[in-house]
Amino acid sequence: MSSARFVPLSAYREYPVEQMVERAKVFYEDVRRRRTVRQFSDRPVPAAVLEYCLRAAGSAPSGANRQPWHFAVVTDPERKRRIREAAEQEEREFYQRRAPHEWLEALAHLGTNEHKPFLEIAPVLIAVFAERYALGPGGRRLRNYYVSESVGIATGILITALHHAGLATLTHTPSPMGFLNEILERPPHERPFLLLVVGYPAPDATVPDIPRRSLGEIATFL
Ligand SMILES: Cc1cc2nc3c(=O)[nH]c(=O)nc-3n(C[C@H](O)[C@H](O)[C@H](O)COP(=O)(O)O)c2cc1C
Repeated sequence: MSSARFVPLSAYREYPVEQMVERAKVFYEDVRRRRTVRQFSDRPVPAAVLEYCLRAAGSAPSGANRQPWHFAVVTDPERKRRIREAAEQEEREFYQRRAPHEWLEALAHLGTNEHKPFLEIAPVLIAVFAERYALGPGGRRLRNYYVSESVGIATGILITALHHAGLATLTHTPSPMGFLNEILERPPHERPFLLLVVGYPAPDATVPDIPRRSLGEIATFL
């Protein structure tokens, strides 16, 4: 027997074709301006913007609607300092020892290294956690489905929402990131997914001049 309850799809909107094309184009023109920023200003960002963008992320689709994500929003300077210290330690290991030559070669054009001052300078870090399983009544473990896919989609919406609101982000993945559980007091069933650095770009920020693959390269129409 199904326990599903259904309601009318009142939130859906259809637009005339011309308007649809215009909306798709305007969205594309906006989203294509997004760049990963690695030099941030220390200017604080409005809490209300973060909250709406996090709500937008939380509206993402997810396997079996488990919504297997948690966003830890960090503005506390001491926690940011500890995150920088731990991330730089992992990154030193990565760049000096662990990284295969091929990986370092792939990163070379970005000019990245083990120094991560933005982790303290940027006003906000959002640590995204993926819930390996959910906790049901009485602490019972409920299996989550397609966790990485779901959290990846939610994070994509978060990055897009922040960009749309006029903030810059850096997707940062120091590896491994287990230190985030300890510093941010998250339980072990939450796996650190990535660390999003959020803020205004520094006035003199630069970005690598990188190409985008064309539509013909990224899509086939059958
Ligand atoms: C999953 C993922 C992990 C990333 N990890 C890092 C990182 O640890 N450090 C960094 O500087 N950039 C990182 N980036 C940013 C990419 O280098 C960047 O998105 C790419 O070069 C394209 O540039 P753009 O975002 O400006 O379009 C990451 C991006 C993604 C999607």
